[in-house]
Amino acid sequence: MKHLLSVTDIQNDILSIIKLADKLKKDPWGYDNLNKKILAMIFEKASTRTRISFEVAMLQLGGQALYLSKTDLQLGRGELMEDTAKVMSRYVDGVMIRAKEHHDLLEFAKNSDIPVINGLTNLEHPCQALTDIFTIQQCKKTFDVNLTYLGDGNNVCNSLLLASSLVGMDMTVISPSGYQPDENILAKAREYAQNTGSQIKITANLQDVEGADVIYTDVWVSMGDERDKKQRLIDLKEYQVNSDMLKQANNDAIIMHCLPAIRGQEITEEVINGDQSAVWDQAENRLHVQKAVLCKLLGRS
Ligand code: CP
Ligand code: NVA
Repeated sequence: MKHLLSVTDIQNDILSIIKLADKLKKDPWGYDNLNKKILAMIFEKASTRTRISFEVAMLQLGGQALYLSKTDLQLGRGELMEDTAKVMSRYVDGVMIRAKEHHDLLEFAKNSDIPVINGLTNLEHPCQALTDIFTIQQCKKTFDVNLTYLGDGNNVCNSLLLASSLVGMDMTVISPSGYQPDENILAKAREYAQNTGSQIKITANLQDVEGADVIYTDVWVSMGDERDKKQRLIDLKEYQVNSDMLKQANNDAIIMHCLPAIRGQEITEEVINGDQSAVWDQAENRLHVQKAVLCKLLGRS
């Protein structure tokens, strides 16, 4: 694994990353594997969890992180991704990028001599999905569960499809027409599922929440989708994760959300802060899993 641009890049490493994350979680300051290593973090969009968890991860591992907003870089004035990647390869040991367009991330990685990590694009959010698989394993102690994703089949949903099919977890996506996940990603996930035995179901039928062990949702208006906000709120209205919805799932189902959450839209207050919520552990786990990713990519092996 040279870069982590898509969940497909970690198809052979997913279980070892999760195992390492578990070890690092038990002793957060116990490993200085990235002593004298520097991670640059380029943000083209806002972030709370990704920014903070990557920065803390580097500090806990003995290294340093640089926060770089695109608007402060010459990138914001039109310098090429290609040139930026070539120059940054001479200064730092790795780059994490949150980009608007997935093809910009690919362009950067193509010209980079150092590892590049996808910190979210319009197409994928691999660090989130990896964390979610880890969180499910910690809560359920098995991957023999059904993960049911409700709402917008967006970047988070795409990465979850790839990750769940790689570990043999069943996944149901319940989304209205026009909001279903990316077709190429779905085809790839189905390919993985053939090997692992995962069942993947894409449906618009809300009754399919029955049998869910994990209920997952994300915002209805992702960063970059703001122009369509009004229509999105109308189209996704029925897909809210609320206590009535929860009653249809298995009794011990857990609730997940990558955050940020908009209460009253995709999720209700009583559910996000209810007894079945795993949301806050999930957010914490971003730190542990990203530390494992950083050790794999930037560590001295
Ligand atoms: N879940 C997630 O990536 O959160 P941020 O946008 O705050 O980084
Ligand atoms: N789907 C959301 C995820 C935020 C972490 C977005 O892209 O804005």
